[in-house]
Amino acid sequence: MLLCCLTAFCLVGSLSCAAVPMRDTRRAQPTRNKLLLISFDGFRWNYDQDVDTPNLDKMAKDGVKAQYVTPPFITITNPTHFTLLTVIHNMWFNTTTQEKKGYYMTQFVDSYWDNGSLPIWITAQRQGLKAGSLHFPGTAATYKGETVRVREVEPRLYDYSNETEWRLNIDKVIGEWFHQQDLDFVSLYFGEPDGTGHRYGPDSPERREMVQQVDRTVGYIRDKIQNHGLTDRLNVIITADHGMTTVLRGAQVEEIILYKIPGFNFSDIQFHLVDYGPVGMLLPKDGMLEKVYSALKGSHPHLHVYKKEEMPAWLHYSKHARLLPIILFADPGYVINGFFPVQFNKGEHGFDNQVMDMKPFFRAVGPDFQKDLVVGPFETVNVYPLMCHLLGINPEINDGHLDNTKQMLLPKKNTEACMTAGQTVSRVSLSLAWLSVKNLLQEQKAVHRCFTP
Ligand SMILES: *[C@@H]1O[C@H](CO)[C@@H](O)[C@H](O)[C@H]1NC(C)=O
Ligand SMILES: *[C@@H]1O[C@H](CO)[C@@H](O)[C@H](O)[C@H]1NC(C)=O
Ligand SMILES: *[C@@H]1O[C@H](CO)[C@@H](O)[C@H](O)[C@H]1NC(C)=O
Ligand SMILES: *[C@@H]1O[C@H](CO)[C@@H](O)[C@H](O)[C@H]1NC(C)=O
Ligand SMILES: [Zn+2]
Repeated sequence: MLLCCLTAFCLVGSLSCAAVPMRDTRRAQPTRNKLLLISFDGFRWNYDQDVDTPNLDKMAKDGVKAQYVTPPFITITNPTHFTLLTVIHNMWFNTTTQEKKGYYMTQFVDSYWDNGSLPIWITAQRQGLKAGSLHFPGTAATYKGETVRVREVEPRLYDYSNETEWRLNIDKVIGEWFHQQDLDFVSLYFGEPDGTGHRYGPDSPERREMVQQVDRTVGYIRDKIQNHGLTDRLNVIITADHGMTTVLRGAQVEEIILYKIPGFNFSDIQFHLVDYGPVGMLLPKDGMLEKVYSALKGSHPHLHVYKKEEMPAWLHYSKHARLLPIILFADPGYVINGFFPVQFNKGEHGFDNQVMDMKPFFRAVGPDFQKDLVVGPFETVNVYPLMCHLLGINPEINDGHLDNTKQMLLPKKNTEACMTAGQTVSRVSLSLAWLSVKNLLQEQKAVHRCFTP
């Protein structure tokens, strides 16, 4: 039986909805399953195709596997884990003071994260659920005065690849947070296979080795869940933020080095963000925009140069106030260097999100998911409404839609009636990622507000 429409916002009712008393709390109490969201940073969609991954295969058999998913541009860790509306680069910067902060230090800059979007932890807590997060990007920040209440932020210089550490973290999340403290939602982050993919390249034996470590870890997680009697009460989503591609090197490759481009002069630049993979941004000095732009445009066959407002609409990367006036991005295989090559990674990401190598994997298993089902690709913006639906919470206005993922759910969870009520999808600006929503530039329509049994 459907038990939905707990508030007046469920606009498109069904007969079953109308038949259920609005506030019958005896019967309307939803049986909410718990949810664990796991990210293995940089796990490309096809990383399981050249390595034995028995645990991932078992999980696919017991649950759902997507062929791949499409992350937002730019395909790097902070924006894809969060939202491009808030976070436009892995770096925090101030163009006046020239100050830059890297991935780790940005975790502690509240204004970098809290920029108009609310992560699911806060939304869940506001609706009475208990949320936790371990190492997930954005965990340390405060949003509208609120933090995720149960959390662990990694120390500086953390070894993201230590399998013993991984198991201790899993013991904490499953044993302490879900089992003892009865949390409803936890996000859990692992920094691999990203690190290994960068260092050794996505086609290296080291990367394959790391994928086996991920696979063992998936087995460990599922055993822990079983041991704590949570298998029938805990949904698990495992995915990643982006993929990885090989950086081209060697004599036949003409590297992109801005300093060497005729007519381009760093003296014309007030602030630059280059030497961080395939994406860069420039703030020219007063009156220098056109000169810089025309020097760079067309200067290298694999370098794309845009004025911020000219960025292709499909990248959803042109509107934000934090973007600098000139945006650069390279074709797969190339990185953008400033004065001379300083980047020696064998693998990179950050490229166009349509490039297959940038696509991450997606798996899900648990009491609300279908079994042994392979679904087609979808965009990662749709994970947020899926998670809200699984948790029975009202989502904030967002760019995703449950229609794109609900085929993964069992019929009892997949209650059409309330799902589509007034859900707004206004892609006016930037893509969003998993955890967050946008509340700028939104159309004022009700989102669906339903619980389902
Ligand atoms: C950048 O630094 C300047 C000087 O300290 C300060 O006035 C400005 O507010 C800072 N901007 C941002 C976005 O933090
Ligand atoms: C987001 O950041 C921009 C640029 O730093 C700032 O101007 C704007 O007020 C912020 N918006 C919110 C809602 O915090
Ligand atoms: C991995 O982590 C464990 C637990 O913190 C620690 O005892 C061990 O020394 C670490 N191993 C390496 C190679 O750093
Ligand atoms: C770059 O600009 C500076 C300052 O205007 C000038 O001194 C220098 O000669 C220029 N370099 C080139 C290569 O044009
Ligand atoms: Zn990443």
